[in-house]
Amino acid sequence: MNKLILVTGGTGYIGSHTTVELMNEGFDVVIIDNLSNSEKSVLDGIVEITGRRPYFEEFDICDKEKLDNFFKIYKKIDAVIHFAAYKAVGESIEKPLKYYQNNLITLMNLLNGIKEHKVSNFVFSSSATVYGQPDKLPVTESAPFKTADSPYGNTKQIAEEIIRDTINANRDFRAISLRYFNPIGAHSSALIGELPRGVPNNLVPFITQTAAGIRDELKVFGDDYNTPDGSAVRDYINVVDLAKAHVVSIKRMIDNKSKSNLEVFNVGTGKGSSVLEIVNAFEKATGEKLNYKMSERRVGDIESVYAETRYANEELGWKAEIGLDETLLSAWNWEKNIRNIK
Ligand code: NAD
Ligand code: UFG
Repeated sequence: MNKLILVTGGTGYIGSHTTVELMNEGFDVVIIDNLSNSEKSVLDGIVEITGRRPYFEEFDICDKEKLDNFFKIYKKIDAVIHFAAYKAVGESIEKPLKYYQNNLITLMNLLNGIKEHKVSNFVFSSSATVYGQPDKLPVTESAPFKTADSPYGNTKQIAEEIIRDTINANRDFRAISLRYFNPIGAHSSALIGELPRGVPNNLVPFITQTAAGIRDELKVFGDDYNTPDGSAVRDYINVVDLAKAHVVSIKRMIDNKSKSNLEVFNVGTGKGSSVLEIVNAFEKATGEKLNYKMSERRVGDIESVYAETRYANEELGWKAEIGLDETLLSAWNWEKNIRNIK
C-alpha cells in the first residue's frame, strides 16, 4: 500500500509542486487547505501532471474540531508536511495578530492532532528569514537567529521553537525543518505555478507581470547596497527542486534515517544573485525586454543572504539542480499560460 502524506496548504504555491513530486514518487497525498490564498482549480493542474487526484479537504486548520474529525477519517497518515500559513511580510507588520493567530494556531493544532493520532513524522516550512542579516555568508544552519524583521519572520522562529520543545517532550516524534531561501519558478509543464493575489510583493512574479504588461515597470529596491552591482542579493531556488527536498525529507524519516529527532536543513542553491542579475537573466532566458528602474531601498530588506548547502547536500542527500535561466523561463511560461499570451 502507498504511504499517505498529509500536505497542509497543498493547493498553495510550494504545496502544489510538492504534492506533484510526492505523487510522482508513488506517495498518496491528502491536502487540507482553506483556499485563503489559493484556488481549487490547482487540483486540476496536479491531476493533469500526475494522472492522479490527491484527496482534498477544505477547512481551516485553526478549527480544532474539524481537524480532529479529519484525523478520525484519515486514520493512517505516515507523515505530515505543514505549508499552511500566511506569508506576506508587509501585511504581517500591519496585522501582526492575524499572522500569530494563523501561523501558530495551525501549527499547535496540528502538533496536538499528530500526537493524539500517533503520526510521528513532520516536515515544517521554515524560512531563511530566521537568520535576518547573517554575520557570515554563506549562512549555515547553526547561525544564530537574529531579532525578526517582521511578525511573519517571528512566527517562523517561534514555530521552530515550538517544534523543538514538542520533540523534547515526545521522543517518539520526529521533525525536519526546512529553511527555504527564495523559491521561484513553476512546474516545467506550466500547469501549476505561483498565483499571487493583487500586486505581487515578490520579485519574480513582479517581473513576469511587468513583462506581461500588467505592471508598468519593475522598481529595483536599492542601488547602494554593499554588493558588486549595488542591488540586494538572495539565493533563488527553483520550486521543483525545493519540492524534491520535501520528498527526500519524508523518505528519510519513514526509512528511519534521521540522525536526530529534530533536523534542520537550508534549502537553497548556495549561490547569491543580485536583483539586477535576475533582471538580466530573465531578459536573456525569455528574450523579453523588461521595463525597470532603480529605486529606494524597501524598508526591512536585508542586503545579502545565501545558503551554505553542504549539510543538505551531504547529509540529506539533496542538491538544487535546475539553473537560473531555466527557472526564470518556467516562471515566464507559467505567466504566459495563465494570461493566454502566445
Ligand atoms: P501559499 O500562500 O501559496 O500557500 C499556503 C497555503 O496555505 C494556501 O493555499 C492557503 O490557502 C493555505 N492556508 C493558509 N492558512 C490556512 C489555514 N489556517 N488552514 C488551511 N489552509 C491554510 O504560500 P507558499 O509560498 O506556498 O508557502 C508555503 C509555506 O512556505 C508557508 O509556510 C510559507 O511561510 C513558507 N515559505 C514560503 C516562502 C516563499 O517565498 N514562498 C519562503 C519561505 C518560507
Ligand atoms: N525586489 C525588488 N523589486 C520588487 C520586489 C522585490 O527590487 O518589486 C527585491 C527585494 O528588495 C529583494 C529581492 O528583490 O532584494 C527579493 O525580494 P522578495 O520580496 O522576492 O523576497 P525576500 O527576500 O524579501 O523575501 C522572501 C520571502 C519571505 C522569506 C524570505 C526568505 O518573501 O517570505 O524570502 O529569505 F522569508
